Amino acid sequence: MSDLIGKLNSLEGEVLAQIAAAKSSDALEQIRVSVLGKKGSLSEVLRGLGSVDAAERPKIGAVSNQVKAKVEEALSRAKETLGSAEINAKIAKEKIDITLPARSLHLGSLHPVTQTVRKITHILGKIGFDLTTGPEIETDFMNFEAVNIPKDHPARDMQDTFFVGPGVVLRTQTSPVQMRAMREQKAPIRILCPGAVYRADNDATHSPMFHQIEGLWVDKGVRFSDLKGTLQFFAQELFGSDVKIRLRPSYFPFVEPGCEVDVSCFKCGGRDEKCSICKGTGWLEILGAGMVHPRLFEVAGYNPNEVSGFAFGLGIERIAMLLHHIPDLRLMFQGDVRFLKQFL
Ligand code: DAH
Repeated sequence: MSDLIGKLNSLEGEVLAQIAAAKSSDALEQIRVSVLGKKGSLSEVLRGLGSVDAAERPKIGAVSNQVKAKVEEALSRAKETLGSAEINAKIAKEKIDITLPARSLHLGSLHPVTQTVRKITHILGKIGFDLTTGPEIETDFMNFEAVNIPKDHPARDMQDTFFVGPGVVLRTQTSPVQMRAMREQKAPIRILCPGAVYRADNDATHSPMFHQIEGLWVDKGVRFSDLKGTLQFFAQELFGSDVKIRLRPSYFPFVEPGCEVDVSCFKCGGRDEKCSICKGTGWLEILGAGMVHPRLFEVAGYNPNEVSGFAFGLGIERIAMLLHHIPDLRLMFQGDVRFLKQFL
């Protein structure tokens, strides 16, 4: 009997020492299994119980329970201290340095051409112009003939026009949209059409692809004064309430009379001889316009004696360059972020 109790006591001493020396929760778990598990050292010792006098067995049982309880208690205490040390170590290792500056977000921005289209369509939208679109690949007929540009007009020159195939071109202007609109709907018409146009031209002020906005207002009794009033409103909304407009007679095949429209310099007001925008002239050309030519009404199937109207066309890049003092048209198409991010 004393033999078994002695074994139990020395087992207890050994195991408590092991527990004290354990360095991780995993090591503690191994100790638990090796001592208290089914095939553990405690069961091993108790296997000798069979050869012990029956009267002694309860005593040995009681000692064995004490050993078990002590081991369990030591295990759980060690687990607690080792466990929290492990968690602390893990937290320390995975610490996030919140003092690091956050990575900045790269926000995109609308291209100055898009911004200008939106500005212009918003302004003219206030006085009833609706947005419409037309195809960039256009028939020769629509791009030229239907808008009164005869076969021998210089704009049809190979140098200016991209031909896609027989009778098909990349539109050189948004003016064919006037004809499309009039063929699709009856007067009254009040439309705006922004879009890309193409010309075989490339230098600091010309690009093979650029953008225009076409405007068309057709109704009974539309007069030249309506055109002037519309353009005056447009120029003041776009460039500032103190600008004036000036109309110079000009020729465009699809209007009669036709004019070029200037706005007084919104920067110097004509007072600075060295003005970087108007170069001292006091005026900036912004668009072409005029009263719709009766021949267009005839081609569209309208009676020119019943309706009248005006049209105008402007280059969007040109307006954007004026508004933002952009020196070279090509900057618009190079996709250079250093340029684009100035238009956030
Ligand atoms: N289509 C002309 C161009 O590309 C611009 C233009 C001028 C449009 C006068 C018009 C207009 O509607 O009336 O140069």
